[in-house]
Amino acid sequence: MKVPFRRDHSGPPPPTAPPEGALRVGALADVPEGTVRRIADRPAIALVRHGDTVHAFEDRCPHAGALLSRGTVAGDEITCPSHRGIFRVDTGKSLGDFNCRALRTYAVAVVDGIVYVDTCARAPRDAKRGKCPDAETRATGRSA
Ligand code: FES
Repeated sequence: MKVPFRRDHSGPPPPTAPPEGALRVGALADVPEGTVRRIADRPAIALVRHGDTVHAFEDRCPHAGALLSRGTVAGDEITCPSHRGIFRVDTGKSLGDFNCRALRTYAVAVVDGIVYVDTCARAPRDAKRGKCPDAETRATGRSA
């Protein structure tokens, strides 16, 4: 079978339906630009918006557990309020002097102006990929 050649390089088309089991955050217009906001406690998730792009990541610094939602955002980087560790909000990569693991990140979809976050974390690039503990609950409707 021949796969049609894509002439545009704009990436995959935007989703037309919310991801199954995703957390509904609210309207994109209500998420302030360039600030960090905590959206969930279990798991602790924070997000940052840049224009139409939203990045979600764990709201717990891997260095000593400070809340990153109390940190400061500059571009695609967030600075931990406790010891000034710096992380990329899109990849979770640690950029500062601390030899931390990367932040867990979460897939975000914006459908009809509403932001949804998949609460099963993507594994950090420097961590082993593990099964999301919520995956079993979603599949069977009950926890393991
Ligand atoms: S707790 Fe975040 S850098 Fe130490």
